[in-house]
Amino acid sequence: MTDAVILKLGGSVITDKSGGCVIDHARLREIAGRIARNPQALVLVHGAGSCGHPEARLYRIDDGLDGENVSGVYHTHAAVSRLNAAVVDALRGAGVEAIGVHPLALALAEGGRLVSFETRHIAEMIRHGIMPVLHGDVVMDRLKGACIVSGDQLVTRLAAALGSRRVGLATDVAGVLQDGAVVPRIDRGIAETLEISGSGNTDVTGGMRGKIEELLVLADAGTDSHIFHVSKVDRFLDGTGHGGTIVTRGGRS
Ligand code: IPE
Repeated sequence: MTDAVILKLGGSVITDKSGGCVIDHARLREIAGRIARNPQALVLVHGAGSCGHPEARLYRIDDGLDGENVSGVYHTHAAVSRLNAAVVDALRGAGVEAIGVHPLALALAEGGRLVSFETRHIAEMIRHGIMPVLHGDVVMDRLKGACIVSGDQLVTRLAAALGSRRVGLATDVAGVLQDGAVVPRIDRGIAETLEISGSGNTDVTGGMRGKIEELLVLADAGTDSHIFHVSKVDRFLDGTGHGGTIVTRGGRS
């Protein structure tokens, strides 16, 4: 077990999600600087944004492999790997000992859910001061051929496997919004009453609704998670309060 913090950067935070694989290098440098100024055991996970979602949709990866879309595995993985290299470069440029780790190479799914996901080497990296940088990815699937595993699904698996106490999701909004206001706390009961709108851009993994479903699974296991605006990354990392949403298990005050 480790007490590593898990931080996910939403794809729309680090790419221009309306276009074709446009990486926001300035934003990446800014985030990398903030991470470097708050040194701690951290596992970084990032989404795909415009580097992977368009390919996954074009090749209909989530419908499964049908003999005609097999090259979509390569193209989707290549796109999100490009983004991963940029994230790692930004972190290393800021002095963080970061390294890219690709889920396609270490995970297997069945019907869209991970059934195996090797994390022991990730724990070793953390132990030696290396920051693993994972990403939402295309993963081989024993029922469908291949599927998309979101960064959010990875976050929940990593948190459980590593025994993480703090999970954060940096997004381009202030938190989960209802009628323009941040919902400070969500549990399963509250989630049912919320009207959460989906993302307007190409997103094959369910937008904010999918994110909350993943985090409620994590909350059931006892780990709270935090959704906040990316400009508040340092406030999440140093624990001073990010003004966003906390997803938690029901029955607690
Ligand atoms: C999607 O990951 C991965 C691919 C489409 C290859 P996410 O679902 O975590 O990405 P974002 O954060 O929504 O962009």
